[in-house]
Amino acid sequence: MSSLASSNKVVRPVNTDGSPLYPDYMPFYDPLEKVDDKGPFEHDDPGHRADPAKPNLLKDATKIFDMSPWVGTELHGVQISKLSSEGLDELALMAAERGCLVFRDQDFADIGFEAQKKIVSHFGPLHIHGWAPHPVNGPVEHMIIYDHKDDLRVRKSWAGKSPIQFHSDQSPEPQTPGTSFICMLESPSGAGGDTIISSSVRAFERLSPLFRKRLEGLWAVHSNWEGAMTEVNNNGQNAVQRRPVLQNTHPVVIQHPVTKQKALYVNPVYTKRIVGFQQEESEYLLKFLFDHIVRGQDFQCRVRYEPGTVLVWDQRITTHSQTLDYPVGERRHAFRLTPIANKPIPSKVDEDDERCVKKWQGM
Ligand SMILES: [Fe+2]
Repeated sequence: MSSLASSNKVVRPVNTDGSPLYPDYMPFYDPLEKVDDKGPFEHDDPGHRADPAKPNLLKDATKIFDMSPWVGTELHGVQISKLSSEGLDELALMAAERGCLVFRDQDFADIGFEAQKKIVSHFGPLHIHGWAPHPVNGPVEHMIIYDHKDDLRVRKSWAGKSPIQFHSDQSPEPQTPGTSFICMLESPSGAGGDTIISSSVRAFERLSPLFRKRLEGLWAVHSNWEGAMTEVNNNGQNAVQRRPVLQNTHPVVIQHPVTKQKALYVNPVYTKRIVGFQQEESEYLLKFLFDHIVRGQDFQCRVRYEPGTVLVWDQRITTHSQTLDYPVGERRHAFRLTPIANKPIPSKVDEDDERCVKKWQGM
């Protein structure tokens, strides 16, 4: 590499003494902490109220481009913290249309816990994780993502298996997450630590019409038992067990409440079996669907984080995976805020599948 190229290389900011850039967001694990489950509630999706032209969201945008044909749009010039209520409604709609939105150069990490919660609460009541940490002096709703040589809980939880595990966060909840946020605080020094997002709308559409019809009407069991057990096995008396283990049954094909798009709603982390199938039949079908999601590089995009990046995505119509591809010991520090939305809505089998057939055949 020439000296010019070398001097132009972007270096992500770090503290020279090795301390975290955002100490207030350091993870806190309290094995005694307990939180009550939220009861059922009526979800009114903000996307219903949005102007489809999105004038409030996009009025300051300087650059907008799609990251891949089927999922992901990157926006520059839009400051989430300055959006009006109407702008946030439009953000919900655009996330539902594109699966995920990547906002650059945000001040979101610096506006404080309460302002962050207020913005994301626009999309629904905030989820509280069963065992993941929250900030040392911050709200329980802020889920901290932290990996560093001084705290290898994340690495330990993925030891012995591929870190590529596509999932929709918290799909075992009775009402599942919707328009969710990840705010990056500190990235590894080089490339890596990205998030891969996969379109569940396209994953469904790309199956043949006959196969799609077979999937519609099926239901599947989702459980977070394995994750809860890993937390206990890895951390013993220091394990966090904030909430009881969750198990719920959801449609295999759902419909987005606003766009009405159909999406495949199974994932390799939480979906355990198809209701009414024999065990072998269920394993056979789920293995095919999981492989279909993992292999679907033609309906995925990859989110690379830079200082100030905020990822907003709709959990109902996407799955995602970490990459965990950067050197062990480097710091990756972020927080997630996860609004709960509607109970997954079963799709209806189309009487006239002509539109789907045409799309499938590329017409
Ligand atoms: Fe996740």
